[in-house]
Amino acid sequence: MTKPIFVTQPSLPPLEDLIPYLEQIWENKVLTNGGPFHKQLEQALCDYLGVPFISLFSNGTIALITALKALNITGEVITTPYSFVATAHSLLWNNIKPVFVDIDTDTLNLDPRKIEAAITPQTTAIMPVHCYGRPCDVDAIQKIADIYNLKVIYDAAHAFGVKCHCGSVLNHGDLSVLSFHATKVFNTFEGGAIVCPDAKTKQHIDHLKNFGFVDEVTVVTPGINGKMSELNAAFGLLQLKHVDAALARRNEIDLAYREGLKDVKGIVCLNGDARDSTNHSYFPILVQHDYPLSRDALHQKLKDQNIYARRYFYPLILEFQMYRSMPSAHRDNLPVASRAAEQVLCLPIYPALSNEDLQRIVEMICEVR
Ligand SMILES: Cc1ncc(COP(=O)(O)O)c(C=O)c1O
Repeated sequence: MTKPIFVTQPSLPPLEDLIPYLEQIWENKVLTNGGPFHKQLEQALCDYLGVPFISLFSNGTIALITALKALNITGEVITTPYSFVATAHSLLWNNIKPVFVDIDTDTLNLDPRKIEAAITPQTTAIMPVHCYGRPCDVDAIQKIADIYNLKVIYDAAHAFGVKCHCGSVLNHGDLSVLSFHATKVFNTFEGGAIVCPDAKTKQHIDHLKNFGFVDEVTVVTPGINGKMSELNAAFGLLQLKHVDAALARRNEIDLAYREGLKDVKGIVCLNGDARDSTNHSYFPILVQHDYPLSRDALHQKLKDQNIYARRYFYPLILEFQMYRSMPSAHRDNLPVASRAAEQVLCLPIYPALSNEDLQRIVEMICEVR
């Protein structure tokens, strides 16, 4: 049996390149609490991503929870059922009711045309996800938010380096939240960040992620511990040197899959247009009814050959017991998300995926007649 191929494999720089960073940490004995590497990474990411302010976090989920706190979001928040469960969980952690709205057929992002019907007097915000690193319809969402005086917090966990028509997609909405988890395009082992538009908001977020401390003796808010350590921040600085090469290789893999699968009846590759605005963090295909195998049968066929594609996002968030009984979780309300969850399969994509392995995956999908 060949070695297993997973849907992703973390990008790691040469180990010896990390040693000088470790030596510096050992030398200055600052391990966390906004040390020098933390400061450097915040600035480096602002420059790289083209955003005004960033606050680093220990992971994306704590960053989402803190982002909601930072804007005092309460009541109901409109969000997508087609995401990783942390999106909705961050609402529950703040005692906010998620209201699920269906997604757009092409992008699989929250469908702006369906948002207004879900707004009630309790609605305070919208939390869309740039799913698979493909930008939401940010202008349409902002228009609705402005009319109804709602905040917009983007779950941008997949959207590192993604650009839309006017620059970084992370500059849209009131806040955007990134994840630097091991599986992401840019990873710091674990990590995350909130992108915010002004220094005052950043300061508030910085207080919130550090127990609410503003100085040694003053606590202004019941904050949490969401700080990124110096080790993760140093690793992030090193990762940043390799991220352009990683993105370029992902682009090559994306193109090769698209070329290899273009004539396969019943297989639809997502993210086809708007190519230059994605980061190729995932390679989702839809296995439709005219393909000879069901999505689950293809998933199993690949698994039998030691290839572990993933059904992101199946099950839908609304299938989990804490969401199931919510009125907005009814499947009749969410036909596009329900269909996508039944058809989607994310194929392996990561910089170290070899062309041979890629071709083998393509052939396995093509050979089914
Ligand atoms: C859409 C989405 N939101 C939030 C998260 C949570 O991020 P983290 O794992 O860094 O807590 C993830 C992934 O992990 C995600 O895919």
